[in-house]
Amino acid sequence: MGDGLVLCLLVVSMQVLVPVVVGSRRPPAIYVFGDSTLDVGNNNYLPGKDVARANRSPYGVDFPGVPTGRFSNGYNTADYVARSIGFVSSPPPYLSLAKSSSLLVLTALTAGVSYASGDAGILDSTNPGKTISLSRQVHYFNATKSKMASTLGSRAVNAMLSRSIFLVGVGSNDLFVFAAAQQNRSAAERQSDDVAAFYASVVSSYSATIQELYKLGARRFAVINVAVLCLFL
Ligand SMILES: *[C@@H]1O[C@H](CO)[C@@H](O)[C@H](O)[C@H]1NC(C)=O
Ligand SMILES: *[C@@H]1O[C@H](CO)[C@@H](O)[C@H](O)[C@H]1NC(C)=O
Repeated sequence: MGDGLVLCLLVVSMQVLVPVVVGSRRPPAIYVFGDSTLDVGNNNYLPGKDVARANRSPYGVDFPGVPTGRFSNGYNTADYVARSIGFVSSPPPYLSLAKSSSLLVLTALTAGVSYASGDAGILDSTNPGKTISLSRQVHYFNATKSKMASTLGSRAVNAMLSRSIFLVGVGSNDLFVFAAAQQNRSAAERQSDDVAAFYASVVSSYSATIQELYKLGARRFAVINVAVLCLFL
């Protein structure tokens, strides 16, 4: 936080691209992947003192009145998106459901599940050990889907997933971690192609993740852009 240099990495508008829902029929479920902008409590279940947790006041003062793990005083982005397509709020955090297969399956089939975790990035190397990485979030979804399929059958589950919304919002933490590390390096250590190589790895990794979700049955994606991001160093 030394010299007050403000490094603005990306200035892009935040857009939520939600496929048009025909009529007022609610999609069967919403599955959420990403970082603290979407986390509704997963990090409260992660061990370790370095984990970012929104488990104290004033988080949650306006909704629901107590801290839930949302990094917000009230609804977060996942809640607003879910509400805009007919749900009461974001689906609950995976780690609050995982201990009971029947609760997990029931929730996954009727509302959806949130795998989002504060500090997560697109890359596994972003904040390792302090978050549920995006690849682990997809792995948890895969495990959820297997359990859903053993209850309802693969065909019915695939049909239901194809009509559900897959909300994804992640990327800022990769940029934060990269920029902080770059800032720490001397000019001589910085390579002119570092930034291009970094972007290429983030984009290819993000693309691979979306394709994995597609393979697992996702068809309707809502992707949130990386938000305006400033580093104060
Ligand atoms: C920057 O360098 C200092 C001193 O070596 C180190 O303690 C710190 O963790 C580094 N920060 C980052 C973001 O790499
Ligand atoms: C999902 O899990 C199954 C086995 O449980 C595995 O064969 C498959 O590769 C996994 N798919 C993805 C996309 O992770």
